[in-house]
Amino acid sequence: MSAAWTARVLTLFPEMFPGPLGASLAGKALENGVWALETVDIREFARDKHRSVDDTPFGGGPGMVMRPDVLDAALEASAGAPGTPGRGRVLYLTPRGRLLDQALVRELAAGSGVTLLCGRYEGVDERLIAAHALEEVSLGDFVLSGGEPAALVLLDACVRLLPGVMGNAGTAGEESFEGGLLEYPHYTRPALWTDGQRVERAVPEVLLSGHHEKVAAWRLAEAEAITRARRPDLWAPYAEAHRAEWDALEAKKRRRQRKNRTADGKSASTGEGQVS
Ligand code: ADE
Repeated sequence: MSAAWTARVLTLFPEMFPGPLGASLAGKALENGVWALETVDIREFARDKHRSVDDTPFGGGPGMVMRPDVLDAALEASAGAPGTPGRGRVLYLTPRGRLLDQALVRELAAGSGVTLLCGRYEGVDERLIAAHALEEVSLGDFVLSGGEPAALVLLDACVRLLPGVMGNAGTAGEESFEGGLLEYPHYTRPALWTDGQRVERAVPEVLLSGHHEKVAAWRLAEAEAITRARRPDLWAPYAEAHRAEWDALEAKKRRRQRKNRTADGKSASTGEGQVS
């Protein structure tokens, strides 16, 4: 078996890991050696008797900043110095980073693993980011108390894509973002359900038809409608990518309508097909 996909996490709170990733599918995969988790306690690399990892910001201002010398020692001892062969990608989780999306998750899951630096306080000294060419990654436009919950989310998204982790291999291909769209709505039994307000809610008829092509067409139309309404940022590139295909379909439809009109015109003038 090839070496397991490895998550190396540098943190001041190693006890937060694997946390929720120790349960369910990710937990089973961890137990089975599909992926490996290595936590590095940043405090072990402190250099003074107080074991300090942070200090006040130069220039003044609130909060504390994580020291570059301490983080450098932690990174060198675990991932290795920049340029070390096989070092892999080293990410720093921060609201200032590039937004995490499914494309980046796919890239990371396809590699040999990741090293994640979790910041606390006001963040890390800027020189450390430059010295280690850290890739800054954010979960979104909100501020967490530290990088640890973000690391757990990122790892969850990666681990579920590793071969053998998800039970149903077909599921990953149809979910949100895979085709640039949000996911279509799902329904299960009962086919007719009466909610708490006594409203009868039926499953869309087409899903009960057993007609696979019609079901697929309905799902695509729903996914497109939801994406268009909720996420113009996803809709714009999707529409752009499909423009030529839609134009061709539209042209074909118009040609067919013209042909039908001509045929109708001819049959009207000859009286063909008319009921007297
Ligand atoms: N650390 C604090 N807030 C964060 C965010 N939004 N994304 C990633 N890491 C963070």
